[in-house]
Amino acid sequence: MRVLGIETSCDETGVAVYDRDQGLLGHALYSQVAMHAGFGGVVPELASRDHVRKLLPLVREVLAQSGSGADDIDAIAYTEGPGLVGALLVGAATARSLALAWGVPAIGVHHMEGHLLAPMLESPAPEFPFVALLVSGGHTLLVDVQGVGRYRVLGQTLDDAAGEAFDKTAKLLGLPYPGGPELARLAQDGAAVDYRLPRPMTDRPGLDFSFSGLKTAVLTRQRALPDSPAARAGLARAFEEAIVETLVIKCRRALVAADTGGQPRLVVSGGVGANQRLRESLRTMAQESGAQVFFPRLAFCTDNGAMIAYAGMLRVTDAAAGDLAIGARARWSLEELRPPAG
Ligand code: KG4
Ligand code: ZN
Repeated sequence: MRVLGIETSCDETGVAVYDRDQGLLGHALYSQVAMHAGFGGVVPELASRDHVRKLLPLVREVLAQSGSGADDIDAIAYTEGPGLVGALLVGAATARSLALAWGVPAIGVHHMEGHLLAPMLESPAPEFPFVALLVSGGHTLLVDVQGVGRYRVLGQTLDDAAGEAFDKTAKLLGLPYPGGPELARLAQDGAAVDYRLPRPMTDRPGLDFSFSGLKTAVLTRQRALPDSPAARAGLARAFEEAIVETLVIKCRRALVAADTGGQPRLVVSGGVGANQRLRESLRTMAQESGAQVFFPRLAFCTDNGAMIAYAGMLRVTDAAAGDLAIGARARWSLEELRPPAG
């Protein structure tokens, strides 16, 4: 069973080929970051048009890289949602058309299920059950995962997603888009300072998050400080520490709240999962609480085709024969998913 995976939910065109027996055979990514940078954020219409330009050349490249011809592909998985509808439609229509031409099934994959399963592309792969912390530009979720399609959301953000908070705060600090990695880089130069930024919603029970106040707290602090590189780096570090500590506190709680079957495991994925301070802090917390922690490699924390190919392989039995629907959903709850058919 060999699956071609296509990801086009936002500003990255990702393609991969995953083989059930041989694992990941090839993957490639084209990032639109440079194109959107001048606008300070993703421009949906430009994103869709660029996916149109880049997707087929990438498919050709990855097929060649993986030593596959069209005849070797048994199914095509594409991101059905959530995401930008125009961008999703490019992937969905291309996947569906190729599937029809090649006489193979096409499978619509939930983008966050892709992120959630991405650590399984690594060795050792986590076993079920586990708690997943999914931290991306659009989502912040803590999920009790009992198996593929058996998801219970334990907590989520009430306003900004973690990546969004990074991006907005980076903008306040005058950093270019995409702000998350830029802010993390600036924070490395920052001295440890006590700017008393809040750890939102950690002083009460529960697993939900709220990050919009953190950005306002940074703005207030910034106005009170001289505008120097040192002050900006210190603020970046204080922000990063506040958001990381908040995430770590909630993960520790989630490992208690979830049904871990006696072996607490934490899986971390999504763009913010590439953040080094978060990775180190979660490793320390896991060690202290006797839990195991799993991360995808950095390239598979952010959007990629490999996670979609892998999720599609696990869900190949969901593909309805003769189904020609081109599915694209802007919003789609992870809890609507069910275990794969059969
Ligand atoms: O998962 P992803 O690639 O796309 C979405 O599905 O949203 O996540 C992108 C988000 C952006 O907000 C980006 O700023 C953030 O992940 N990000 C980071 C880092 N790398 C990416 N945030 C903090 N530190 C990083 N190293
Ligand atoms: Zn994503």
